Amino acid sequence: MRHFLPNGEELTIRWPEIGDAPGLLANFQRMIGETDFLLFTRQEAGELDVKSEEEFIKSYLNSDDQLMLLAVARDTIVGSVTVNHSGYHKKGHIAEMGIAVERAWGNMGIGRRLMTAMIRWAEAHKKLQIIYLNVFSTNEKAMQLYRNFGFLECGRMPAGIAPRDGEYADLVMMYRRVKP
Ligand SMILES: CC(C)(COP(=O)(O)OP(=O)(O)OC[C@H]1O[C@@H](n2cnc3c(N)ncnc32)[C@H](O)[C@@H]1OP(=O)(O)O)[C@@H](O)C(=O)NCCC(=O)NCCS
Repeated sequence: MRHFLPNGEELTIRWPEIGDAPGLLANFQRMIGETDFLLFTRQEAGELDVKSEEEFIKSYLNSDDQLMLLAVARDTIVGSVTVNHSGYHKKGHIAEMGIAVERAWGNMGIGRRLMTAMIRWAEAHKKLQIIYLNVFSTNEKAMQLYRNFGFLECGRMPAGIAPRDGEYADLVMMYRRVKP
């Protein structure tokens, strides 16, 4: 899927390939360096390598229940959305999403486009009925993006996250039905 961004650049949203491993790793490590709203620390992200990233991509390509979509601009991966299925039969109808876009490409609607593509996939999926996510309570922008797509808060663990600045944040669960 190709889109034009407000700055005139072209954005492509597409499935990953194994060959994306170095680019996806670089994208992830850049994002971990610039935001504290993702779960990995810089040290944990630094321990990843191209081989582990290849395995990570394969886990999406080998399963109909998992989704990874990449946002690509200027031949560089600048963001992604994932949907992860637990593998448990009793949780067959639910899956957890995650999304991230690099700051330099933020506020251009890339997050919205990734969310739209992810929801379309989930709506067409045979078994999925609910998409859910966990977000830090301090991440107002991400929560607004999710609310824009009809996600509702359904749980909150007080002090569930300890970011690097030492101030605890609540861990908020949000969900959205993707089938009537
Ligand atoms: C959250 C994130 C994915 C948004 O991506 P993005 O490409 O910048 O998002 P968009 O440009 O599509 O904007 C999404 C919405 O955020 C909202 N928004 C933007 N700035 C905001 C702000 N300062 N406060 C509250 N809401 C804001 C707007 O409603 C906007 O939607 P609209 O343009 O349709 O009105 C991105 O900022 C990011 O990856 N952050 C770091 C990692 C992260 O937090 N991931 C989510 C973990 S749960």
